[in-house]
Amino acid sequence: MTYDLLIKDIGELATPQEIRAKGKEMEKIKILKDVDIGISEGKIERIGNLKNEKAKEILDAKGGLLLPGFVDSHTHLIFDGTREHELDLKLKGVPYLEILKRGGGILYTVKKTRLASKEKLMEKGRRILDKMLSFGSTTVEVKSGYGLDLETEIKILEVIKQLNEEHPVDLVPTYLGAHVVPPEFKNKKEEYIQFITDQVLPKIGEKRLAKYCDVFVEKNVFDIEDARTVLENGMKYGLMPKLHVDEIENIGGSRLASEVKAVSADHLTKTSEDEMRILAKNNVVANLLPGTSFMLMKEYAKAREMMKYNLVVALSTDFNPNCWILSMPVVMSLATYCMKMTPAEVLTASTINGAASICLDHKIGSITEGKQADLVLLELENFKQLPYMFAVNPVQAVVKRGEVVYKNNI
Ligand code: NIG
Ligand code: FE
Repeated sequence: MTYDLLIKDIGELATPQEIRAKGKEMEKIKILKDVDIGISEGKIERIGNLKNEKAKEILDAKGGLLLPGFVDSHTHLIFDGTREHELDLKLKGVPYLEILKRGGGILYTVKKTRLASKEKLMEKGRRILDKMLSFGSTTVEVKSGYGLDLETEIKILEVIKQLNEEHPVDLVPTYLGAHVVPPEFKNKKEEYIQFITDQVLPKIGEKRLAKYCDVFVEKNVFDIEDARTVLENGMKYGLMPKLHVDEIENIGGSRLASEVKAVSADHLTKTSEDEMRILAKNNVVANLLPGTSFMLMKEYAKAREMMKYNLVVALSTDFNPNCWILSMPVVMSLATYCMKMTPAEVLTASTINGAASICLDHKIGSITEGKQADLVLLELENFKQLPYMFAVNPVQAVVKRGEVVYKNNI
């Protein structure tokens, strides 16, 4: 047997269970010491002592740590501009929704993104993805939502499609037209919803540009009925529901997520214990975004309670102009130090449960024979060191579909 790639001399290989892990199962990490891994045709072929076997290419792990590639299952990667000018307002305590009401926040980014060319968005997206890859992310979910008009939403989704084709990182596209009501529909929210259902969704469906449909359910943004309408129409075109809920205020978004059996409900900082129970019962992944809490200087989701209620908890960066975080390891540290998740739980949440949040846990998210070889090699002795160390980047190499696509000092 000649492998396409052999990763030899792995000091510790750590992996969560094979499919989505609920509550207590998130603690179960399988650890193998001093092993090698053989990869063929993009898949994990064998794990064991393979030192004497043949391979076309060898990656010497030099005793490092091997983990599944990180799955960042909630980002808003494609937009133009930055929003550091809003930082002073945030520090003075001006609320997020107030900045939005004044035409800033998402609306500011929409203005900038509408003016940006496709080439510019491609170039920026490429650079961000390169950085995400260097932090160990191998699959990234990406939402539209900074165009809102038909032309710009399609432009963003086409950029996502093209980047997916050319970049080693896999991108999973989500349509987030119901992000805010755009200025041309000011005080005409119902008309905007109708525009989404009658004009945008059919185009996205026809061009197959998205896999998921998302809505920002929030006070003074979109209510439960708006979200239900958008999601039900999205489903007509095969787009599975996801939701931004309970971020600033709880207006019942997680109950809707349970009702429509959303693939994931994201943010969840204001979710009640009753709602956690209902989410768990309906198999909705709780996708937590501690980076956003950090950047908003607000409270964190109650991850421990969620795991107590047996929820499948995932972690993501929520990378967007209000939350400039590209690194899953940073999110993992925040989850540990600010939400009291253990290193084992954060590893599960950032790999197999992130994959579950985009319905890919059968394919990626764990180091299992037969699964796609998406792997990250780190200059660490064991997996607990990863969230323990804050904001160092220990990534030495990244393997995507069996190919070494990133190397740093190795
Ligand atoms: O998930 N809250 C809604 N959407 C993004 C933020 C978008 C923005 O502020 O530009 C989020 O945090
Ligand atoms: Fe978001």
